[in-house]
Amino acid sequence: MQDLKDRVATVTGGCSGIGRAICVELAKCGCDIAVIDIASGPPADSLAQEIRDFGCQAFLYQADVANFQKAQECPMAVMRELGRVDFLINNAGVHSDAAIWKMTEEQWDRVIDVNLKGAFNYTRAFAPIMRERRSGCIINITSVNAFRGKFGLTNYSASKTGMIGLTKTTAREMGKYNVRVNAVAPGYVQTSMMEKFPPEYREQALAESVLNRLGLPEDVAHLVCFLCSEKARHITGDIIKIDGGQYL
Ligand SMILES: NC(=O)c1ccc[n+]([C@@H]2O[C@H](COP(=O)([O-])OP(=O)(O)OC[C@H]3O[C@@H](n4cnc5c(N)ncnc54)[C@H](O)[C@@H]3O)[C@@H](O)[C@H]2O)c1
Repeated sequence: MQDLKDRVATVTGGCSGIGRAICVELAKCGCDIAVIDIASGPPADSLAQEIRDFGCQAFLYQADVANFQKAQECPMAVMRELGRVDFLINNAGVHSDAAIWKMTEEQWDRVIDVNLKGAFNYTRAFAPIMRERRSGCIINITSVNAFRGKFGLTNYSASKTGMIGLTKTTAREMGKYNVRVNAVAPGYVQTSMMEKFPPEYREQALAESVLNRLGLPEDVAHLVCFLCSEKARHITGDIIKIDGGQYL
């Protein structure tokens, strides 16, 4: 387990699935956590309790990551509540699938606004403070579908490929300020997002995996904890696939 004691992580889309596992694993490593999510109520409250059970502080910030202004106000709120800013995990994401000849403008805009603009909004908000402190780590959760075409996912794939450009360019800009920026590209991970897909999707992912297993949210969370740690100090601008060999 990585030692991230007394560090502060901000995790978007933290209330469920991969984001929730990232919050819990970072808390196990000693991090205080700012959870940014559009959701509120019982899922957020139970997560905050789980974080506190590890002896860490939790701060819930309800926001739609697509809202630029709300994102710009976030770092100051995190500073006020938790005292510092160390890690930003851009995890919030949605999908809204249709073949290109049926996709509506609303479907395209919403997926780009949440997945890609949301990551920009929070990177833009946190970059100045990390740059000033000469320290920080940003991790963008993209997808193996950034690298390949999958039927019905033009908006989703475009948003996830865009996150790769965001990652590489930000890493180049922020490197001299000792801020590392990486992306993690999961294959199929068993979360509520995937429950909305037809069962064939899951079966195909299992057949594609050379390890003959499907990813769990904790698998992604362990990689995120490593990337946040000092042990990953020489890794920046990289896109690390975590997919059980699903996309080889
Ligand atoms: N599950 C997978 O197989 C898989 C694979 C590759 C990449 N990903 C990516 O991992 C990330 C997490 O996916 P997941 O499967 O855990 O999804 P999920 O649906 O289980 O959780 C997403 C979380 O994001 C929050 N959220 C959604 N829209 C938001 C918004 N506009 N503002 C703030 N919060 C918002 C939701 O409330 C929820 O808590 C996403 O970016 C997704 O694209 C998932």
